[in-house]
Amino acid sequence: MKSITKIALAGIALAFTAGTAFAATAAENWENSCASCHGADGKAQTKQGKKLKVRDYTDPAVQAEMKDDTMLKAILEGYVQNGKTTMKGFKDELSEDEAKDLVKFIRELKP
Ligand code: HEC
Repeated sequence: MKSITKIALAGIALAFTAGTAFAATAAENWENSCASCHGADGKAQTKQGKKLKVRDYTDPAVQAEMKDDTMLKAILEGYVQNGKTTMKGFKDELSEDEAKDLVKFIRELKP
């Protein structure tokens, strides 16, 4: 009985750490690779963000315009506007799962 409780507790602890590690990774990637343009808060109020006229991803109207699959494609392969690459792709730095986590992260940005 005792050991079963221990195993159950260990399982809960493991699930909890795995959960927080996952959240930290997307947040860390955002901070390291994306925040210079998109802003830590997603509002793009940075020098680069203003220069490139990056949209405010906390705006519900902008969120509604964006599609998960095009977001994923932009993160991995880059974003081209009027024949100019305004955001490079991150497929050499991020795995597809990390990119998917970043899509989720962006979806959770709040105004
Ligand atoms: C050099 C500046 C820059 C960096 C760094 C950058 N972006 Fe972008 N990003 C842009 C620009 C410019 C656009 C296109 C304009 C817009 O979305 O307002 C864009 C577009 C996007 C889009 C497409 C939105 C759509 O319409 O589907 C997503 C998603 C995105 N970025 C996520 C990221 C993520 C995640 C990172 C980090 C891994 C990142 N960006 C890093 C500048 C940048």
